Amino acid sequence: MNLLTRNRPTARPWPTRKQPSYRSPLIYLTLLFSLLFFFSYFFSLTPNSLLSNKTSISDSPKCPSLGGGKFLWYAPHSGFSNQLSEFKNAVLMAAILNRTLVVPPVLDHHAVALGSCPKFRVLSANEIRISVWDHIVELIRSGRYVSMADIVDVSSLVSSSLVRVIDFRVFISLWCNVNVDFACYNELDKHASLLERLKQCGSLLSGLNGDLKCLYAVNEDCRTTVWTYQSGNEDGALDSFQPDEQLKKKKKISYVRKRRDVYNTLGPGSEAESATVLAFGSLFTLPYKGSELYIDIRDAPRDQGIKTLIEKIEFLPFAPEILSAGKKFAYGTIKAPFLCAQLRLLDGQFKNHWKATFLKFEQTVDALMQGPLPIHIFVMTDLPKNNWTGSYLGKLVRDSRKFKLFFLKERDELIIRTAKRIVDAGHGLKFGTVPKEHDGTGQIEKDCPPGLPDVLLYIEQTVCSCASLGFVGTAGSTIADIIESMRKFGACSS
Ligand SMILES: *[C@@H]1O[C@H](CO)[C@@H](O)[C@H](O)[C@H]1NC(C)=O
Ligand SMILES: *[C@@H]1O[C@H](CO)[C@@H](O)[C@H](O)[C@H]1NC(C)=O
Ligand SMILES: *[C@@H]1O[C@H](CO)[C@@H](O)[C@H](O)[C@H]1NC(C)=O
Repeated sequence: MNLLTRNRPTARPWPTRKQPSYRSPLIYLTLLFSLLFFFSYFFSLTPNSLLSNKTSISDSPKCPSLGGGKFLWYAPHSGFSNQLSEFKNAVLMAAILNRTLVVPPVLDHHAVALGSCPKFRVLSANEIRISVWDHIVELIRSGRYVSMADIVDVSSLVSSSLVRVIDFRVFISLWCNVNVDFACYNELDKHASLLERLKQCGSLLSGLNGDLKCLYAVNEDCRTTVWTYQSGNEDGALDSFQPDEQLKKKKKISYVRKRRDVYNTLGPGSEAESATVLAFGSLFTLPYKGSELYIDIRDAPRDQGIKTLIEKIEFLPFAPEILSAGKKFAYGTIKAPFLCAQLRLLDGQFKNHWKATFLKFEQTVDALMQGPLPIHIFVMTDLPKNNWTGSYLGKLVRDSRKFKLFFLKERDELIIRTAKRIVDAGHGLKFGTVPKEHDGTGQIEKDCPPGLPDVLLYIEQTVCSCASLGFVGTAGSTIADIIESMRKFGACSS
């Protein structure tokens, strides 16, 4: 659920380069035209006030047709592991509803939080869509945009034709009619109005300006709904998890949670079907007391395609650049069989479980003492090196005869080089052909240097997937779950 080594949502491990560079006048011309385009576009949509939330895009014939395609958008949130689970659910939903999935960027760690579903205290679908949009504009503005498809390799999903995807930037250049190099928005602070336009476009996508033909905003959330698919005749039945009487009284909750078939509710024949864009809010919450709280689709008895997809998304590998960096560290730097320890010690609930976390680690190391020494150990932890003294880690460091410790840091050459390779590869932008009638609007030039994405966590996870002496993770950490699944699926040997 959480980035291990980084708890500051917005701080970056290294400063983004700010080289004053020569800009071709053409870029300013393009910008000017886009602005003009924008103005004419929005004024044609909104005769009264741009800020009115009543503005309906349907008043205008200009609801973007997007080449007749149908799309699915959602609001990712929380840490990377949650965002990955949410992405997988979105892939499933898009396939079930036969819509093209708009692939979002990776959001900063906990920049957008959903809240607590078991406590029925969560952001509404509209609220979370708006927070996500605002954060994405911020990612673009600060040059730190990196697509989920840059980090996670979705090529096998796409080539299997089980699901269609489009990059968010390509989609937005059509939907908002933006014809500007997204990577260069970090230089556009001066052009506040352009950012303002983007925000307004975001309110359309977030469902504040309702027009069902254009965009259907799903307002059901985990308080009211558990999405299912082909799960017998339980469509509309009450879910087993309901707010208890005490909570209902205290919070004046009138919610009842129902299980609903996503295809029956939002698919063919539904009100949502004809909308160009279907926008969900959150698409994931952690299970609670054995109940799936929002999406409970584990099988598709009568749909072989979805059945195959469910199997395929169980494990999505990282991009090849990340895998090769992790393997390089494991085989080139550690160069011996090693143990991986993932110790999450500082964030939230984990602060109170140091003892259990270290005990498990110590027992594993003790067992290895029977074998050859020194024992090589790769450590990934959010505890700064300065604070290791006094803990079991400090003890290991001091006994360099018996233990050889390895770890990675944000500024390591390997990490920075991999981040650059990820940016250069731009896997995400390979997804999304721009329909002919929009020629020109979808071109994403990569003219100016973007900031570097934070890839440390993904590389650390890959190194741990290569640990042949075993893996000790932190109980309850979703990072540990990802590593376990990488090990199970042999990510290191692929
Ligand atoms: C829309 O505007 C009305 C009044 O103009 C206001 O009461 C309502 O809260 C607004 N809705 C949103 C979602 O901003
Ligand atoms: C799914 O959508 C595609 C593209 O819009 C369309 O060609 C195809 O017929 C649809 N499939 C089904 C089963 O509706
Ligand atoms: C880590 O060390 C710093 C000073 O070196 C101290 O201020 C901080 O409280 C320590 N943190 C933990 C979690 O021990």
